[in-house]
Amino acid sequence: MPYVLDQARSQILDLLHAATGGRDFDIKEAPAKLDADLSVPLFAWAKQRRENPVKLAGELAEKLDLGGTLFSAVSVTGGFLNFKLDADRFRSHLFADFDREGADYGGSQAGAGKTIVIDYSSPNIAKPFSVGHLRSTVIGQAICNLFRFRGYRVIGDNHIGDWGTQFGKLMYAYDSWADPEAVAADPIRQLLALYVRFHEEAEKDPALEEAARGWFQRLESGDAAALELWQSFRDLSWKDFERVYRLLGVEFDEVLGESFYNDRLESVVEEAFASGLARWSEIEARVGSVAAGSGEGSSGESGTPVAMEKVAIIPLEEHGIETPLLIQKSDGTSLYATRDLATLVYRRQRWHPAQILYVVGGEQQLYFKQLFKAAQLMGNDAKCVHVWFGLIRLPGGKMSTRKGRVIFLEEVLDEAVSRARAVLADRDLEEAEKEAIARIVGIGAVKYADLSQTRTKDVLFDWDKMLNLQGDSAPYLQYAAVRVRSIVRRAEAKTVAAKIDPGLLGEEAELSLLRSLAGFPQVVESACASYQPHLVATYLVTLARDFSAFYSQVPVLKADSLVLAATRLALCRMTAQVLERGLALLGIETPERM
Ligand code: ARG
Repeated sequence: MPYVLDQARSQILDLLHAATGGRDFDIKEAPAKLDADLSVPLFAWAKQRRENPVKLAGELAEKLDLGGTLFSAVSVTGGFLNFKLDADRFRSHLFADFDREGADYGGSQAGAGKTIVIDYSSPNIAKPFSVGHLRSTVIGQAICNLFRFRGYRVIGDNHIGDWGTQFGKLMYAYDSWADPEAVAADPIRQLLALYVRFHEEAEKDPALEEAARGWFQRLESGDAAALELWQSFRDLSWKDFERVYRLLGVEFDEVLGESFYNDRLESVVEEAFASGLARWSEIEARVGSVAAGSGEGSSGESGTPVAMEKVAIIPLEEHGIETPLLIQKSDGTSLYATRDLATLVYRRQRWHPAQILYVVGGEQQLYFKQLFKAAQLMGNDAKCVHVWFGLIRLPGGKMSTRKGRVIFLEEVLDEAVSRARAVLADRDLEEAEKEAIARIVGIGAVKYADLSQTRTKDVLFDWDKMLNLQGDSAPYLQYAAVRVRSIVRRAEAKTVAAKIDPGLLGEEAELSLLRSLAGFPQVVESACASYQPHLVATYLVTLARDFSAFYSQVPVLKADSLVLAATRLALCRMTAQVLERGLALLGIETPERM
């Protein structure tokens, strides 16, 4: 049985199909000022038939037989047909939806049998977990949750950057200058310092670049000492990342990382040559311009010219992309793209995904265009999407890993939690509980600040806005959920045995709340289809506002009859459930109390 609004939409399509023979209609929510629920603009259809849309709408309205549908009336404004839901049928269908789906209300089995791989978070080892990787983590997690809720098999894969020329640099630096004890004590900062020092010294002495390449070559060819050093960098970094993931409450299905594909790189390059796609070419090698990502470029090095270099490329000019994709260096070492091509082959073979999403910053747009095109030429048929996002800016300037000028993510998260703690200071709660709430609220606020905006926009961190209990913020929604739940808890005892009659819910505030609740499944669907978690965030704010209006205008426990009280209480319960589910889809917890 479809959700009430899905049913309503398909009935409209059936009605219009019966009347016109066509199915090409767009269904929108009716504007608030109209006494209607769904609207169908007829302009495109009228144009196709060379008819006047207003006249066409009038004629159609006459012809439609609403008998047996969820609608009680159809009206015409301009070139629009407006459908009004019959309140009784709408209410009982919606209540039946909740009964049937229970806690899964809003989800579906639309994705059953389909697999989607979501590549997200993907920080680079031996570097701090950046605020950009925070965005990838938070957005990626929400998208994983959303697709799972729609019945997909989701493989969340953390493609950590643990391979590449930057490790050659780091090994060189470690070998030449490191104090192993200091590194063990504070690995990420020390490794970062070594990496920065490498760049400073390499500017004076280009021979260092050569030496670093040597180290990376050793690594790729399986040299034991190089591998051991690399493994220790990886272990130290992973410990650090795990702390962040624990704080954020994020888990992955796979953490394969770039190094995992090491023994699959050669065959990718061979295949690219064998199929005639690749060729050798001379390019001017620049540090950092060779490839995006993995610290080979995303770390923001300015690009110091070194020399002309022979590299294997896949030219893409014929396909409208001017820059070729670089897949191998003259010394036989791999690049970010080589590893990504191998990853793609592996994912297809292992999971047969219908889609692969790459949740990675907007600065890699060109790179993913190149990658997807090259992969397609090599026979990839999985739908690949670069789900990109803008930058995060903190008050006081843009962040950058360049030259070691980084803001450590943990500092940002700690700040969020301590600000939440301050907000809670005068609450009458046990210290331990306060601490737990501060974490949930602080982390929730950071996640929400990110997820509530259109993905592609930059995010400006505004602490006051983020923790504002009234505004468009996580604490506002968390507080709303906690409040509704406590209303339910207090009232439940008094209305246990009473029956429910959805037909009694006729107040405007009740109907608005019902309509909001009915909209949830569609919001989840659109958020998946467009990979935009912010649609859920925006929806939740509306739902919370509708609930506030309802609760301030309509008595629940003091309702005229026990049945009415129980029915309104059911409405509260539905609201609490959807608020919590919506927040959970965004990866945001709801505390017990606040
Ligand atoms: N580690 C990369 C970076 O920080 C992101 C990797 C994204 N995923 C991928 N398959 N390329 O820029």
